[in-house]
Amino acid sequence: MDIDRQVFLAGLGGPAAAGRMSDEAKADALEEHLMTQLNQAHRKYPTAAEVALQIETRPFRRGAGNLFVATQGNVKRLPPMPERPTLIDFFKLRFHETANHVLQSANRAMNNGMPEEIILACLLHDTALDLIKVDHGWWGAQLYEPYVSEKVAFAIRYHQALRFYEDLENGYEYPDLYRQMFGVDYQPEPYIEATYQMVRKHKWYLEPRLVTVNDLYAFEPNVNPTLDQFTDIIGRHFKQPKEGLGYDNSPVAHMWRSIARPDSPL
Ligand SMILES: [Fe+2]
Ligand SMILES: [Fe+2]
Repeated sequence: MDIDRQVFLAGLGGPAAAGRMSDEAKADALEEHLMTQLNQAHRKYPTAAEVALQIETRPFRRGAGNLFVATQGNVKRLPPMPERPTLIDFFKLRFHETANHVLQSANRAMNNGMPEEIILACLLHDTALDLIKVDHGWWGAQLYEPYVSEKVAFAIRYHQALRFYEDLENGYEYPDLYRQMFGVDYQPEPYIEATYQMVRKHKWYLEPRLVTVNDLYAFEPNVNPTLDQFTDIIGRHFKQPKEGLGYDNSPVAHMWRSIARPDSPL
């Protein structure tokens, strides 16, 4: 464990006060300091077992999509969708919980000079969370697959596994947020580990990796990029179906309808 000398000395009343202490008193103080640090480190994040204990404290499951659960009080009535909804309509009318996060991420990718397909992958990477949170990378890739390039779908699908594995060379550090969300001692499931091993060797490894690098693990309060910034990229790389998303008879049309009509009981 790192000892911050200045913090330690300040705790003793400063270097002069520490100088007046006996060696034994200093050793005791050091031990106490280390214990406090250790306890704080443990108190800061729950363990995976503590996270599991929280399951029965909620009326919903953590994997439920944002559209299906109110964070406070009851869910709200949703505005109607146009007859032939576009991706932009979904952003404006349904991606309530994820839009700002993915816009911030795409904005970061744009500012970092990323290729357009990476910017698009960042813009779409977490939007499936409004439908379902479990395995959101796979759901997201499936949702977009008929309308984007194979590379973009690959980036969306595998960012989910890669975010658990540090890659300092490419600028990705394990996020503190996950110690909070999954528990400080969380170990990814074997299928995630196997996916990571496969993607690590894949020629497109950098596609999903760059999504994680440009992802944000804390809400940036004063950054509110708008969709207008990305309409050209969407126009060039997203094949909008003329019948509207949900009505083009594609294999994923029902997924778009589920996002459009989450109040349908059956
Ligand atoms: Fe994600
Ligand atoms: Fe994200």
